[in-house]
Amino acid sequence: MEIKIGRNDPCWCGSGKKYKKCHCDFDEIIEEHAVLGEIVPPRSLIKNKAQIQGIKDSGVINTAVLDYVAENIREGCTTEDIDKWVYTKTVELGGVPAPLNYDGYPKSVCTSIDEVVCHGIPSKDRILKSGDIINVDLSTNYKGYYSDASRMFCIGDVSEEKRKLVSVVEKSVKLGLAEVKPWGHLGDIAQVIKDLAHENGYTVVREIGGHGIGLEFHEDPWVSYLTDRGTDMLLAPGLCFTIEPMINMGTYRTVIDKDDGWTVRTADGKPSAQREIQVIVTETGCDVISH
Ligand code: MF3
Ligand code: CO
Repeated sequence: MEIKIGRNDPCWCGSGKKYKKCHCDFDEIIEEHAVLGEIVPPRSLIKNKAQIQGIKDSGVINTAVLDYVAENIREGCTTEDIDKWVYTKTVELGGVPAPLNYDGYPKSVCTSIDEVVCHGIPSKDRILKSGDIINVDLSTNYKGYYSDASRMFCIGDVSEEKRKLVSVVEKSVKLGLAEVKPWGHLGDIAQVIKDLAHENGYTVVREIGGHGIGLEFHEDPWVSYLTDRGTDMLLAPGLCFTIEPMINMGTYRTVIDKDDGWTVRTADGKPSAQREIQVIVTETGCDVISH
């Protein structure tokens, strides 16, 4: 239960507007869903206008750096090169790479090749070769606002099998994005993603998912891509989160590297692909923050 606010009091979101002209109707809808036992987002996750602008500005930088990676990535470069580009470009645009020193993470970006599911650490020893599929996962802190997105790149001559995996994960996120609308549920997104993956004979990683984001790098909710339509958290305007399924060619099981404590690999060594976008629910649908 949230504290009752007078209609003429300032809104809880910090907009400075009167409650009746701001989140009053919003709260009524939330209450209707809450009494049905649905999971509704707490007020702390709902971004106000100023925060949304800050998050969008961060996202513009994040997407620009991903575009820069896309223009320069090629066979023969190392994942350490990618790390350097990301650090240099992000700082040039006024941001800070969010992964750097996050929980002790040593680099500015995650580079995950083939059987690496996520959190691959850039290295001067890993040279991109023809046939690799690589996920470059980039996150930016700009004036305290966070953005996060990742793309797959096919290096040189990639097998038909791996190309299909990459195109299915890309398509799954597009389908997921089309589900993001006010008063839907996170499960609507998960349903279309897992259906497409399973139709293609693939599996969806269970223990690593998406997340709320904006004022922190990782906020609630934790986002699964295995839940059912109509379940999981209610999508309310102002809720900001990532859509970032990891889809595997073989088993969904994963193993964390014992030596570095970060690199997540498929348990069977078969390829995995991921795509990540960041979205925010609006009054009418959603905005893509970074992609
Ligand atoms: N970008 C990843 C995500 O989507 C998080 C990476 S955390 C790091 O949530 F420390 F490994 F960079
Ligand atoms: Co993320």
